[in-house]
Amino acid sequence: MPEQVRIFDTTLRDGEQSPGASMDESAKVRLAIQLDRLGVDVIEAGFPIASNQEFEGVRRVAEAVKHAQVAALARALDKDIDTAGAALKGAARPVLHTFIATSDIHLEHKLRMSRGEVLAAAGRAVARAKGLVPVVEFSAEDATRSDWDYLVEVTRVVIAAGADVVNLPDTVGYTTPDEIREMFRYVIKNAPGADKVVFSTHNHNDLGLAVANALAAVEGGARQIECTINGIGERAGNTSLEEVVMAMRTRHDKYGFDCRVTSEELVPSSMLLSKVTGLAIPFNKPIVGRNAFAHESGIHQHGMIANARTYEIMAPETVGRKRSDLILGKHSGKAGLAKRCAELGYELTEEETKQLYDQFIILADRKKEVFNDDLHMLILGVQQETFEVYHLDQVRCAGGDPAMALVKLSRGEDTFTDTSVGDGPVDAACMAVERIVGVSGRLEQFEIRATTPGKDALGEAYVLVRFGDRTYRGNGASTDIIEAAIKAYVSAVNKYVAYLESQNLVAARKNGAVADE
Ligand code: KIV
Ligand code: ZN
Repeated sequence: MPEQVRIFDTTLRDGEQSPGASMDESAKVRLAIQLDRLGVDVIEAGFPIASNQEFEGVRRVAEAVKHAQVAALARALDKDIDTAGAALKGAARPVLHTFIATSDIHLEHKLRMSRGEVLAAAGRAVARAKGLVPVVEFSAEDATRSDWDYLVEVTRVVIAAGADVVNLPDTVGYTTPDEIREMFRYVIKNAPGADKVVFSTHNHNDLGLAVANALAAVEGGARQIECTINGIGERAGNTSLEEVVMAMRTRHDKYGFDCRVTSEELVPSSMLLSKVTGLAIPFNKPIVGRNAFAHESGIHQHGMIANARTYEIMAPETVGRKRSDLILGKHSGKAGLAKRCAELGYELTEEETKQLYDQFIILADRKKEVFNDDLHMLILGVQQETFEVYHLDQVRCAGGDPAMALVKLSRGEDTFTDTSVGDGPVDAACMAVERIVGVSGRLEQFEIRATTPGKDALGEAYVLVRFGDRTYRGNGASTDIIEAAIKAYVSAVNKYVAYLESQNLVAARKNGAVADE
């Protein structure tokens, strides 16, 4: 049996630090359930001290997850640790993850603390966390730019204080594979008690080395990899979960390690994340990108027909992408549609199947042939509707100068209609949405692309919208690109409205006006 490496997923915490990728509580729960199905060992759900919404998100994920451990992040401060402990109360297998920086540059300019003070704070934080939960992880932030002998000292102190996992992160994405391999070897060899804990590696992708560094760290003795779906995260992102998992599986001959992840759930997890955050998956993204298994050149296609192994190092089915893309049309019927959804790995409720069928018929009418990628978009859209605040019922635009738009939104049983003028149809429709909802945003990014080939393709729109000092991403799909754009805008607006309402709700709860659910 190959030696196991634990997969610590931080999509809901470090991943959420991607600009505009914030997730509300329902989105976090939905993703956490998928991550649990994917088979990760740990789900880091958030940083509870950051906001009431973060606290609620962690609390709800902790209650919803059945198999994986659920982690919450805390600085090495009493109030952070106690808040993280409280958010994890309902978790079956809680992990309190506390951290403090150990590099001289962070000590001098950020913390303004001496090495001795940081050492003491690290030990105190771990001991306090250990009093609240059975499993504690300690991270030495900016470890790869820290003095190795000081890292050995910090590791000794936190192990003595009760840490179960010691993480040595490459916080700024600066290290190289050779260097990180040696760093782990050095610390593990020299820190007393190192054999009693699991060493973890957490890498950022600023130089595009995050996956390579994670694998090298495992060669150096780490037995836990921290990573995110689609590699999302602060700046250039984190180690990409799907890449590191498939590198271990595909090059098992080289690494000799494995993990518990069910690789067939990789593509569904990636698509769900994209839908929930509004972050598009680059077409050339390894493993999960649309082109990851597409063979364009004639020579390659010829080789593939003779034997897929000529140009394919992994079978697409092993990562959850179906090779056969048999087309559905409007005569396929409800049973055919339901069967295809099941083959694609979706479990839909009766209500969702009904909604999906209605939307499928509209799409099949407009587009004649519906591919699996179209279906993925429709299914995720239907599932997203369960969580939306406002639903876009109708948008009608007229070009010209100025352009005009009429928008109809509904919220529960209530419907709202408004019109607006603007610099173009999208601008006019966004203004009409804002007039109905009563918020004001600035469209900072706007991208449209086709889901599948052909002039009648489903268009996917991705937006990044700024509301004051907060940014939210949104996405939407339709054969009408203006409708796709407005759906995307409404989904970003919905996230902001959910945030505003959660703040009011928490304030009301604090005053005793609203009971906890
Ligand atoms: O990058 C980093 O150092 C982190 C720590 C908090 C683990 O995200
Ligand atoms: Zn990080």
